[in-house]
Amino acid sequence: MLDAEDIQRRLDEIDYLVDDGMATALFLALTLEQPLLLEGEPGVGKTTAAKALARAMGAPLIRLQCYEGLTASEALYEWNYQRQLLAIRLAESRHESLADADLFTEEFLQERPILKAIRTSGPVAPVLLIDEIDRADDEFEALLFEFLGEASITIPEIGTFVAERRPVVVLTSNRSRELHDALRRRCLYHWIDFPAPARAAEILRRSVPAANDALITSATDFIGRVRALDLDKAPGMAEAIDWVSALTALGAADLVRPEVIRTLSAIAKTPDDRSAIADAFDDLLYAENHSAEAETERTS
Ligand SMILES: Nc1ncnc2c1ncn2[C@@H]1O[C@H](COP(=O)(O)OP(=O)(O)OP(=O)(O)O)[C@@H](O)[C@H]1O
Ligand SMILES: [Mg+2]
Repeated sequence: MLDAEDIQRRLDEIDYLVDDGMATALFLALTLEQPLLLEGEPGVGKTTAAKALARAMGAPLIRLQCYEGLTASEALYEWNYQRQLLAIRLAESRHESLADADLFTEEFLQERPILKAIRTSGPVAPVLLIDEIDRADDEFEALLFEFLGEASITIPEIGTFVAERRPVVVLTSNRSRELHDALRRRCLYHWIDFPAPARAAEILRRSVPAANDALITSATDFIGRVRALDLDKAPGMAEAIDWVSALTALGAADLVRPEVIRTLSAIAKTPDDRSAIADAFDDLLYAENHSAEAETERTS
């Protein structure tokens, strides 16, 4: 039986770094066999959490990307009308007739991610990622209640499919709208914080192996200070990774003014944010050099 530390270690081995809180949330989701709802700022690793968990457990990953207008026939199951039509034609050509009961059977059922997660069998339970649930219309959530609560879905024409082994379900949301209490009630919950500086630096180290270590430390500090500004869109891990990749591609071994200016678009995603960062630039960079000097003094 795995414990939270085992999960943390396995995720670490595939370069997904989690703190104790997140490791415990994942451990509980696996142990209690309950869906896990992950929320957090954009780019904080919600989607990657499900992908990494599947890899770490050697489990198949099934993904449902939510969007406005998503329907049951795209998320749960659909009838294969073409095959039904063919079956009818075939029966007609044989002068036979088909009843509804002959046409609405498993043979004509097309799996969509939720039904697939229920019916996937194998040595390891699949991980089902229901990504960005807040993008789907709120009525869509009600379609998930039976599945989230009982790991089953009921198809009126056939009956109820119950998962032999409960899939591991990870839902993510960016909080673009409030989710129903009924959905929250059926899930464990974890808010992913922006990683602490040491973990953020380690994530950068793993994600951009070519980056210089001094650059990674300075960039982590710089990003921390930028995040403290009042921005429309504070840079997340995804932006930090892009930025360090860009700086590295330009050959920067540490934060130097011209390269930082040239690559600012990787962390400033609106004109207002760009000018806010530019206005505070000397403070941000000065504090940077200052802390680098302090570090040199401290270690010398
Ligand atoms: N804890 C972490 N360990 C390793 N990499 C991470 C971690 N957190 C984020 N990342 C990296 O940051 C990037 C963004 O992660 P991801 O796309 O999963 O974020 P998200 O929260 O789903 O964002 P969005 O809300 O925009 O969909 C990925 O490249 C991912 O590898
Ligand atoms: Mg995502």
